[in-house]
Amino acid sequence: MDDGVLELRDLLESDRDLLFSWRTDERINFWMLRDGPESKTEHDQWFGRQLVDRESVFRVIVLRGIPVGIVSLHAEGGGQMLSLGIYVSADTIPAKGVGSEAVAKVLRLTDVFPAARCVKAEVFSDNLRAIRLYERLGFTRVAGSEREVLKGNAQRSVVCYEFLLGG
Ligand SMILES: CC(C)(COP(=O)(O)OP(=O)(O)OC[C@H]1O[C@@H](n2cnc3c(N)ncnc32)[C@H](O)[C@@H]1OP(=O)(O)O)[C@@H](O)C(=O)NCCC(=O)NCCS
Repeated sequence: MDDGVLELRDLLESDRDLLFSWRTDERINFWMLRDGPESKTEHDQWFGRQLVDRESVFRVIVLRGIPVGIVSLHAEGGGQMLSLGIYVSADTIPAKGVGSEAVAKVLRLTDVFPAARCVKAEVFSDNLRAIRLYERLGFTRVAGSEREVLKGNAQRSVVCYEFLLGG
């Protein structure tokens, strides 16, 4: 992807409704470990927290000036581990490499977490697209990390990928 075509920017108040549409889109939700909001009120409360959260990196992925998704890093375990989140709108004009470039870019922001040693991504075992993306960027599957979770009414398998920092 050409330089400058894809950018990450801070979340803005004007993103509120767009994020609600993404977070309630079943084409995205199906692949996310956590369920989307049950109501607009729940979304608004969550969105308000993201706007003022200075502890996490939460960025809108912008492709040729158009917001197309979200990429985020949240510190866990006393800040030693960063949890990665990513989704790209299912309506994005097919543009191969958007997710990969967004994750590559957010990995360059990890120095705002001085204690961080690794970035982890939990992913459903059948999410081959995300797994391909992570492996191509140098994430490795954590041995023994496979576990079952209940998503909706279905039991699904999840695996953990990690990317070591500072090595
Ligand atoms: C996962 C997601 C972020 C990937 O974004 P993307 O823009 O499609 O990613 P990229 O194009 O950079 O990379 C996807 C890779 O998967 C490959 N791929 C696509 N469909 C595939 C499939 N069915 N099986 C295997 N690989 C597949 C692509 O060819 C590409 O690999 P390549 O560049 O080596 O050819 C996006 O699909 C998404 O938002 N999905 C819904 C939410 C989600 O799954 N989030 C991650 C939760 S852990």
